[in-house]
Amino acid sequence: MMKALRAVFAATTALCAATAANATDLEVTHWWTSGGEAAAVAEFAKAFDATGHKWVDGAIAGSGGTARPIMISRITGGDPMGATQFNHGRQAEELVEAGLMRDLTDIAKEGNWAELVRPASLLDSCTLDGKIYCVPVNIHSPQWLWLNNSVYEDAGIPVPSNWDEFVAAAPKLQEKGIVPLAMGQQPWQTTLAFQVLMVALTGTDVFMKVFDQKDGELAAGPEVAKVFAAADAARQMAKDSNVQAWNDATNMVITGKAGGQIMGDWAQGEFQVAGQVAGKDYTCLPGLGVNEIIQTGGDAFYFPAVDDADITAAQGELAKVMISPETQVAFNLKKGSLPVRGDVDLAAANDCMRKGLDILAKGNIIPGTDQLMSADSNQQVNDLFVEFFNNPSMTAEDAQALFASIIGNAD
Ligand code: GAL
Repeated sequence: MMKALRAVFAATTALCAATAANATDLEVTHWWTSGGEAAAVAEFAKAFDATGHKWVDGAIAGSGGTARPIMISRITGGDPMGATQFNHGRQAEELVEAGLMRDLTDIAKEGNWAELVRPASLLDSCTLDGKIYCVPVNIHSPQWLWLNNSVYEDAGIPVPSNWDEFVAAAPKLQEKGIVPLAMGQQPWQTTLAFQVLMVALTGTDVFMKVFDQKDGELAAGPEVAKVFAAADAARQMAKDSNVQAWNDATNMVITGKAGGQIMGDWAQGEFQVAGQVAGKDYTCLPGLGVNEIIQTGGDAFYFPAVDDADITAAQGELAKVMISPETQVAFNLKKGSLPVRGDVDLAAANDCMRKGLDILAKGNIIPGTDQLMSADSNQQVNDLFVEFFNNPSMTAEDAQALFASIIGNAD
């Protein structure tokens, strides 16, 4: 009874506080429009509305590659939203350098973010010249293979426990008219698959020398040639996967039209919305079951600098709400990602999230390429892999030569 009364009192207090500070509508832009993503965003909206302000949803359909140019042109064009999603890293660096984004350093200091946020690289990615310009909201990792258990069981095959077993099982699925590897054609998806293969098959050292040190020679060498051979096998397994959006590819796995998908932990949100249980209905293999390493990329929210005290106050409230322990748990459980702070109770975490938390605790992590390379260099890599996965006449050798050139000239 007392707990309920305390909750009512807290909510009333917050409401009064916001009312006193002029409850404000705040437009928030993002690209989270799949079932699982929308369920996760709803947790942010609910928490923000509870402060007395109002979340005005500015979802932009398509993927980040579609949404970011729209977000950037609105900010540079003088029609800013109240807050917007970007990935951790360098996507917003030109906006920050141009002085168009709000400095959150005071809020970060008040909230002790430097002590709470882990790994520290997330906050480093928000920081320019010692000032903090974004609130990190999750750690998402692309390095997962998602498998529909019944597809393999019905085919009389043990559910694969690693990449090699997954590849070996492919012909039997193809005989049954099942696509071994579901793959959407949004540009970032084929790059994601390649990067996941690289980390899984060559480990952290090669990945960081290529994407962080931009070692074009290594990118042209035999270690990376192994990854292109695996990518060649992947495009063979994905050739009948004729969908665009990543979550349509995930749905092929959920409905048994495909055996598996290489996709980030956000695919979990789709399995959850479909009522499927990790470990029972589907299997998740971090690092493709080969090298359990995960990237600590993810999502952060930035706030355009505006000359409006009510908007500025509401922006501060939203930043605080997004990183609060309760909202971190509610949002990340629905999103399938990991919280940016370690002091939260994740008793409700499922089998896959626990695997991710274990890998994070062991420190088997690497940054996302959005944190290592400029948006332009990342786009060039994206364009290469769209071509490679869609043009069978492009050989693995040709693709590797182009990749090495992009990496050697990347910034
Ligand atoms: C990423 C985003 C993830 C996931 C994915 C697919 O950029 O950070 O959280 O939503 O796009 O939309």
